Parts: sequence; C-alpha cells; structure tokens
Amino acid sequence: MIKKLVNPLDLSIQEYQHLFETGKTIYESPQNFTQLANSKILATLFYEPSTRTRMSFESAMFRLGGKVLSMADTSSSSVAKGESLADTIKTISNYVDIIVIRHPKDGSAEVAVKYSSVPVINAGDGAHHHPTQTLTDLFTLYMYRGKVSNNSFGFCGDLKYGRTVHSLITTLARYPEVNYYLISPEELQLPQHIKNSVLEVNPKATFNETSQMEEVLPNLDVLYMTRIQRERFFNEDDYLRLKDTFILDKNKVNMMKKDALIMHPLPRVSEITYEVDDDPRAIYFEQAKLGMYIRMALISLMLGLNTNR
Ligand code: NCD
Repeated sequence: MIKKLVNPLDLSIQEYQHLFETGKTIYESPQNFTQLANSKILATLFYEPSTRTRMSFESAMFRLGGKVLSMADTSSSSVAKGESLADTIKTISNYVDIIVIRHPKDGSAEVAVKYSSVPVINAGDGAHHHPTQTLTDLFTLYMYRGKVSNNSFGFCGDLKYGRTVHSLITTLARYPEVNYYLISPEELQLPQHIKNSVLEVNPKATFNETSQMEEVLPNLDVLYMTRIQRERFFNEDDYLRLKDTFILDKNKVNMMKKDALIMHPLPRVSEITYEVDDDPRAIYFEQAKLGMYIRMALISLMLGLNTNR
C-alpha cells in the first residue's frame, strides 16, 4: 500500500502510467466507480486557501461513493487554540482512511506523514511541492497528446516560489526528450536545488533561461503559465514591481505553434488575458476538470481499492 505522496517522485513512473490509464477509464465510464470507496472517509486539511485542489479532491471522493470531512478554515478548529500539526494529524488519522493536507510551510506534509496512521497526500506545502497538480498536468498531456515525452516545455512566471513548477519540472526529468525553457524575471528564477533534483534524475538535462518570453514562444509545445506568488514575497513592493512582467495575450499566442498547448495550474491573476481563453490551445479549465479524475484514480490507488472493471 502507498503510504504517502509528498514529493512527486514518491510514485514510480510505472505508477504514474497506471494512474493515467485508470484516470482515463474513470473519465470515460464514471458510472462504474460510484460505489468503489463506499465505506471510506477522506479528510481535507487546508491551512492555506484553495478552490480547485480541495474541491476536486472532495468531489473525487464523493464520486467514488466515499465521504469527506473537511477542515478548510483553521480559525474554526483547534489550530486556532494553538494545537500542533502533529497532534492534529494524530487525532484526525483515527477518524478517517486518508488525509489530504495543504500547509504554508515547506516540509509540513512530511511531518504529517510521520504522525499519521493513514496515507497522506500533499496538496501543496509552501513553495516546496504540489504532486497532485503534477499528476493533473501530466494526465492532461496524456489525454491530449497520448504521451509526456518528446516535448519542449516553457515555464513562465514565478519559478522561484511556484510549487507546481517545482513538482512538474522534477517529474518531467524522468521522461525522454524533454526540453526546458525557463521564462522568468531574474529575481524569480528556478532555484538551484530544483535544477539539482532534475539533474539527479537526468544528468543530461539542460535549461534555457530567458526573461524574454517572445524569444522562445515559437519553440514551445507546451507553455505552462503561472501567477506571481504574492503570499510568498517578503516585500509587497517587489510583488507590485514584478506582478505584470509577463502577460500572455492574443498577439503572443499568435507567435506559438498551431498545435501548442497553453496550461496553467490556476488561479490566474493577470498573466493570461481573458481573450486567450477562446483559443483552442488554451486548455487550463479542461486541465482543472481532468484533475478531479486523476485524483479519483489516486485516492483509489492509495486506499488499495480494485479499479479493474
Ligand atoms: C496552485 C498552488 O496552490 O500552488 N494552485 C493549484 O493548486 N491549482 C498554483 C497557485 O496557487 O498559483
């Protein structure tokens, strides 16, 4: 049984493939899975704001016939009385079969694993990792392209604090023929430790870094846009100075390949103009939808449920 998904590399490449295939089966015939998690309970513990991640987990569990306990607002729980994460997890893991946690501190999901008697899924820990967003991103590619390998990826925006970028870049290192274009202001470049984890997996990986998005747009098969992570800045002035560095509008999209894909983990702030949404290459809302199906597959796998139908 899989006890944790904290770092995206906690699952093997074979397990990813299995999840994509299961996710696709569930997507195509959800009616066959409505009773699968019948007697199971999932807890969502969110110490940070969320729309898609929490609700797609909860919807995924409901669609599997399971039940959900949610702690979305820490001000109404014992966290507000000063309870430690360790004590909260020790208690909650008696009530449920699986825990999904989001926390502003890097490393907190690993702490949860230490104190939990049930499987734990990291739904984002600070600027560290967000493995189920990576599953969502790769599942989207699998559904659109049938494969992850052989693509040039452009990552644009806040590559320093963006945990979805950290997780996706690290995981892509396992796939052949992946090129990285890193588009960011100098202050928000990809941290060296993430580059190191990529190089550990694939010593031949190279990074093309630029602060000029126009230069690289024509080369990309996938453009992964991200918002500037305001809540992780120490200084509001820096945020205000950097927040509109990159804005993807229709003119820029016209510079891209006809069959490129534009992805975004969402929420969007101002980095993609609304007119782009109508372009067939813009698939970020479909991506958010697919996230629910891959989470159904993940919950089933981590609860040890049989998805063969
Ligand atoms: C992301 C996150 O929380 O890291 N959102 C999400 O889960 N889809 C991206 C972000 O907040 O910018």
